[in-house]
Amino acid sequence: MSSAPFIAEPATGPLRGTAAVPGDKSVSHRAVLFAAMADGTSRLRRVLDSADVRATIGAVEVLGARVVEDARCGDGLTLTVTGWGAAGPRPPHDPIDCANSGTTTRLLMGVLAGWSGRTFTLTGDASLSGRPMRRVTEPLTRMGARLELSEGGTLPVTIRGAGLAPAEHDLVVASAQVKTAILLAGLRAAGRTLVREPGPSRDHTERLLPAFGVASSRPTATHAAWVDGPAPLTPTDVAVPGDPSSAAFIIGAALIVPGSVVTVAGVDLNPTRAGFLTVLERMGADLAIRPAGEAGAEPVGDVTATFTAPLTATTITAEEVPSLVDEVPLLAVVAAHAEGTTRFEGVGELRVKESDRLQALAGALDALGVTVRAGDDWLQVEGPAETGGAVLDSLGDHRLAMAYAVAALAARAPVSIARYDAIGVSFPAFTEVLRSLRA
Ligand code: S3P
Repeated sequence: MSSAPFIAEPATGPLRGTAAVPGDKSVSHRAVLFAAMADGTSRLRRVLDSADVRATIGAVEVLGARVVEDARCGDGLTLTVTGWGAAGPRPPHDPIDCANSGTTTRLLMGVLAGWSGRTFTLTGDASLSGRPMRRVTEPLTRMGARLELSEGGTLPVTIRGAGLAPAEHDLVVASAQVKTAILLAGLRAAGRTLVREPGPSRDHTERLLPAFGVASSRPTATHAAWVDGPAPLTPTDVAVPGDPSSAAFIIGAALIVPGSVVTVAGVDLNPTRAGFLTVLERMGADLAIRPAGEAGAEPVGDVTATFTAPLTATTITAEEVPSLVDEVPLLAVVAAHAEGTTRFEGVGELRVKESDRLQALAGALDALGVTVRAGDDWLQVEGPAETGGAVLDSLGDHRLAMAYAVAALAARAPVSIARYDAIGVSFPAFTEVLRSLRA
């Protein structure tokens, strides 16, 4: 059953005020998983309460971790997690449903691969079941793991736990999910497991593992991450920082609605995630970034975006893409209102996200009246465009749903967005947060 399309209205005036964004999705997944693997009880605060993170929570519960939700105080989830520790994950009777969450699936493959004699099956929704998984199973297989995918290299996957050997891996594409799956498998192998990447992907795993008592590489310029196994995890307390990927939609909205001044508080400013801020500044955005300490082993701060003048176009290089890979839909919408031609290079990975985002964005921007072209791994957006109303479909992709709602703010007529409820995957309160800034 699908609900009626959401009608996103154009802004009638500037956006003003301060917004809090929910806990970071990547850090939330990791905090819950690491706590589930640890021997003892961890306390997690400001965990993102969204469908994707609920998939990870549900998975660790059926695997034998005890998760108690202490309170829902409007500031995310406060969880007490007692992990399986040395006893290991308990194979559930039924397949584990990872819903729409690639992070849950890929990280779990690494967590479960090294438990000899135990069998686990992972499934997901239609979108997740179309996404490539060999990028994870191949390196894990080289460590001795036994994973069986369906013929097309997709879910369901059956993991037959096996003894693992440490290994060095060279990834062709920078991917934090693949890197993390390998490192988590390496925790069960005796010796150093190392992952080299062509460029730096998000390093939340390397930052958070030491809090759980595991030595791992600190962020370095060599794009190499490692763990020394076997390494048990010890429990700890984690406060999850605000999600920069969610903040990006609020900041982007302020930069295309004249007169806006919006602050987003408590945002994770990890440089491996903050590429969109660098790009927006290069486009002429007035951003005030005030560091405010640390949370969850991540630097955090407040960001104020002030609309001063229309932005100017830029080129986003392939090297920059890992640091903004989830922000391309929002940046493409912003680019439609910037002067000149904005080009995104090396964005082929967007074709295998929750949807084929390049194809979807090209279609949606065209429908809004923007001149846009897409190639195999590039996207080009011409601005500034006078955008009109349109009938769009998120394809069940949360980031497209939110990017289209932001696009509506600067359009001359409402935009209809089918399957808008996908926002629940990462930012369930997005509509209310945006509305509060319009008052
Ligand atoms: C994530 C890594 C990214 C990102 C995804 C979350 C993570 O994927 O797109 O939303 O938490 O590790 P890749 O690592 O595949 O680029």
